[in-house]
Amino acid sequence: MTIVTADPAVAAGLLRDGALVAFPTETVYGLGADAGNDAAVARLFEAKGRPSFNPLIIHVASLAAAAGHGAFDAAARKLAEAFWPGPLTLVVPRRAESAVSRLATAGLDSVGLRLPAHPMAQQLLALVGRPIAAPSANPSGRLSPTLPEHVVATLGGRVAAVLDGGPTAIGVESTIVSCVGAEPALLRPGGVPREAIEAVLGRCLADGIANQDRPTSPGQLASHYAPRAMLRLNAVAPRPGEAFVTFGAPAAANRGSERVALSESGDLIEAAANLFRILHELDQRHVARIAIMPIPETGLGLAINDRLRRAAMRPVD
Ligand code: TXA
Ligand code: MG
Repeated sequence: MTIVTADPAVAAGLLRDGALVAFPTETVYGLGADAGNDAAVARLFEAKGRPSFNPLIIHVASLAAAAGHGAFDAAARKLAEAFWPGPLTLVVPRRAESAVSRLATAGLDSVGLRLPAHPMAQQLLALVGRPIAAPSANPSGRLSPTLPEHVVATLGGRVAAVLDGGPTAIGVESTIVSCVGAEPALLRPGGVPREAIEAVLGRCLADGIANQDRPTSPGQLASHYAPRAMLRLNAVAPRPGEAFVTFGAPAAANRGSERVALSESGDLIEAAANLFRILHELDQRHVARIAIMPIPETGLGLAINDRLRRAAMRPVD
């Protein structure tokens, strides 16, 4: 059952408990989850039926809160000061100390941050007291919702509640600007016109592409995460020197090898929640070779396998 409520306190309580809540922003309705809760973020991907893990926009209550998760250079700060709160998402380098789920940022070294202007979204963020990860509240591949009824019709039963703020004022998604590279780049046109951004910056925006899965030039490597280790997929048993990432119970003969569990019980939501954190931890330990057990191609398994196949491809260097 999906509750439709106009009370931000009800929505905030559910979010703090790890439930999914759709809420209005001035652009479109977002499908929100506590951005620090890996399991809630995994459930969010499952509810959207995304075949891959796109990084999510992290909604925050203030520029000060945003600065705790991302590093704002002069251009990013200028844009935040000019357009926040509002329909602008800024992609900036992720701070090491950020508690945002690695799954929410799809393992990238950057984070997309937005301070929405909608008063209900602001009340919700203040009441939750934590950042909220939210893609548009539509099933993958469908139109973004501008009315609570759109959310109920397409995601009803998959979200705990919809916070009803009536129709959204802008109706198209936020403009996304990346301040990760040498010059700010437009990743997605949206609610703030390009010209307005260029006027504030006093320069033209470069053209970027949102959510590139693979770096296309060495200069982009820094912002796109791929594990340094060699990945071997669909591994039944580890070979000498490989760390073994398991899903479900490994064969008894392998139990002696060094291993990390995506999910002991073979739960895809738990595996998705752990995926990027485990890959980062193995990287930090300078593990050179990783063998990963087969993941079923159902539900979130599609997204997990998509990401693993991409991570297993080596960048050309
Ligand atoms: O208006 C909006 O932006 C709405 C409301 C709910 O905030 N949200 C929205 O989210 O449209 P979504 O998931 O449908 O689109 C977010 C886009 C994706 O294309 C994603 O790839 C990009 O933002 N994005 C988020 N973080 C990124 C990052 N670190 N680097 C590159 N692209 C990023
Ligand atoms: Mg969308």
